[in-house]
Amino acid sequence: MEKSVYVREMFASIAPRYDATNRLLTGGVDERWRRRAVRELAPPSGGRVLDLCCGTGDLTFHLLRKDPSLHVVGLDFCAPMLDGAKARALKEAPGADVQFVEGDALALPFEDGSFEGAIMGFSMRNVVDIVATLREARRVLRPGTRFVNLDVSKAPNPFFRRAFDLYFYNVVPLVGGLVGGSKSAYRYLPNSLTNFPNADELAARFSEAGFNGVRYLRMGGGAIAIHVGSA
Ligand SMILES: C[S@@+](CC[C@H](N)C(=O)[O-])C[C@H]1O[C@@H](n2cnc3c(N)ncnc32)[C@H](O)[C@@H]1O
Repeated sequence: MEKSVYVREMFASIAPRYDATNRLLTGGVDERWRRRAVRELAPPSGGRVLDLCCGTGDLTFHLLRKDPSLHVVGLDFCAPMLDGAKARALKEAPGADVQFVEGDALALPFEDGSFEGAIMGFSMRNVVDIVATLREARRVLRPGTRFVNLDVSKAPNPFFRRAFDLYFYNVVPLVGGLVGGSKSAYRYLPNSLTNFPNADELAARFSEAGFNGVRYLRMGGGAIAIHVGSA
């Protein structure tokens, strides 16, 4: 089966319990990483911001909590994940200028330079072509504005990496099976890190896609990386 079809169907199967499983698996610490990613994006007040592969909208709502004047567009290709995002918007951001669009990160249905910031969380491992995705993100950004990517990474410290791998490759599928409703989906997610570029390699892909001032910071003992580039 084609990777994008598999990924879409896999997320559709775990969408109803995605938020609860996520909080349980990270102990809620992902909230800190998300807040930091939003801080790194630093979009202009009142700006139009894209949450790429928004899922159920975690980063969308972080953006709006930090600055309710933003106009946020969340895009994802999995309709059940977007349904979750729309339901959350009614409760968590009533009256906010937020829109959820079904679409593919590799072919964004937006005009060149139409956003003043774009962010992507825990999704780059799932796309079929990282550089093409980054080029698309850059295309829709106004020159000089930022793209921020938050994702798991390979920790440079071998001891920490071993401990993280034990958790990621063993505990995550177990808990994901029990709580998230799909052991195979939660086995896929850690495996998607295996062939994912390390933090330096991902920074190089940002540059290859045309981003300037590329940098990254690590969190969670290096198991998390936040990459930043300017369009
Ligand atoms: C692990 S979830 C992350 C969701 C959210 N960004 C978060 O931080 O919780 C990955 C999401 O990426 C979406 N996705 C993967 N590949 C995509 C693509 N090519 N275009 C649009 N959405 C995609 C999936 O449907 C899924 O909702």
